[in-house]
Amino acid sequence: SILIVDFGSQVTQLIARRVREAGVYSEIAPYSKAVEAFERMNPKGIILSGGPASVNDEDPPLAPEAFYEAGLPILGICYGQQVMTHQLGGKVLSHDMGEFGRAFVEVKSDCTLFDGMWQVGEKHQVWMSHGDKVVELADGFTPVGTSDGAPFAVTCNEAKRFYGIQFHPEVVHTPDGAKLIANFVRHVCGLAGDWTMAEYRETKVAEIREQVGVGEHGGKVICGLSGGVDSSVAAILIHEAIGDQLTCVFVDHGLLRMNEREQVETLFRDHYNIPLVVVDAEERFMAGLAGVTDPEKKRKFIGGEFIAVFEEEAKKLGGADFLAQGTLYPDVIESVSFTGGPSVTIKSHHNVGGLPERMNMKLVEPLRELFKDEVRELGRELGLNDQFVGRHPFPGPGLAIRIPGEVDKARCDILRKADAIYLEEIRNAGLYDAIWQAFAVLLPVKTVGVMGDHRTYDSVCALRAVTSTDGMTADVYPFDAQFLTNVATRIVNEVKGINRVVYDYTSKPPGTIEWE
Ligand code: XMP
Repeated sequence: SILIVDFGSQVTQLIARRVREAGVYSEIAPYSKAVEAFERMNPKGIILSGGPASVNDEDPPLAPEAFYEAGLPILGICYGQQVMTHQLGGKVLSHDMGEFGRAFVEVKSDCTLFDGMWQVGEKHQVWMSHGDKVVELADGFTPVGTSDGAPFAVTCNEAKRFYGIQFHPEVVHTPDGAKLIANFVRHVCGLAGDWTMAEYRETKVAEIREQVGVGEHGGKVICGLSGGVDSSVAAILIHEAIGDQLTCVFVDHGLLRMNEREQVETLFRDHYNIPLVVVDAEERFMAGLAGVTDPEKKRKFIGGEFIAVFEEEAKKLGGADFLAQGTLYPDVIESVSFTGGPSVTIKSHHNVGGLPERMNMKLVEPLRELFKDEVRELGRELGLNDQFVGRHPFPGPGLAIRIPGEVDKARCDILRKADAIYLEEIRNAGLYDAIWQAFAVLLPVKTVGVMGDHRTYDSVCALRAVTSTDGMTADVYPFDAQFLTNVATRIVNEVKGINRVVYDYTSKPPGTIEWE
């Protein structure tokens, strides 16, 4: 395994991800707890992460001295390079003008880290983000790569297998970065690269058992299911670890897509045999939404009501010691705190934000190291089918934010039908997986139409489909005209209440993905 010593970089988890992609197990430990992790793991290599500190600060965060005497390969990235240089007797310059963004590294001499990929004389694009830089190497180190702003962009001490790089190989803007990290863990550290998601599953199951406890003194865990991939995978994994100490709660707020509730019931009750409470709260949500047209008021009401319902159900179950959440790494907005944390700030799932504190529950978040595509892989590992793990994201406030203006059950029913037809056609055309999100929106506008010699005066339905990698930016999916014509025809023919269909051609930005 590889021990990643965290100095507080925002992208330390990306290092872990690249190591996982190379088929090697790794753990991240804050620098202040690295010795314990080292003793427990007995790693074959160490990576020192980047971080916001400067080695010239008073009392800078350091790697444990013993790591440099352990005879193991060490890769220092950015601050990791600086701290290694500093601790081994070299010099780092602060308050320099720094280098941020794209840069090019020229390979000056051979280095085991570059074996099989970079040759002397070549220039390669890398991503820099540093103010400080190494200006004097520690004993035994030689410069093997330079950039305009960093004469020691890559340094190494081959005898000791210590490597320092100023740029960030873990980010996608360093095109060969993943290969460099793979080279370090496999070629330099000699690890086999045969670690898999199956082992991740085993490790997490053991961790959950440890955290929650099993048997007589085991804690009770409650998990709010949304019907989406993340909370489902988290629940299934936790159930594997602690069995019926877990209860899942699914709140049907009446703002779900067609058959969504039934799908959750079938999957959890019949397939996985996981204790599941389904709360029928449609009336309550519809009553509260009556007369509400402002998007933010809708969101606020739905979020607050969800918490209220969830809390009531948890009380009925006699409370719980833990709340399970499908928080993913991108939701974890801060890495370890500068003081050696781990004090992380969480963007709580909007549905249950604030609940853990209010109900005095601890969090179980087995997916917080993973990215979306890794969660999908873990889901497959746990027996979920491709169709389920590939589901498009669905917002917590559900259909309410796809019905501009006032929301009521009748309008939800109309939208559900149109949406189901649209998605069915997308699946039939084999396009579902190429699209990030596709859905119908029911507009608060009526237009005139003619059907079978009769005048109609009904609502307009807008169709949206976008491609994206993270939901932050999005592009319109370019359906061909025939496909859209088919969908429009089916919706107008089959859904009473809709007599016109339009397609949304707005990218994000300037639009958002949802209409509200
Ligand atoms: P926007 O509309 O902001 O959406 O471009 C970006 C992504 O976030 C989803 N979304 C939400 N998800 N609660 C959620 O759980 C919400 O309140 C919410 N609002 C938007 C949206 O579906 C898209 O994937």
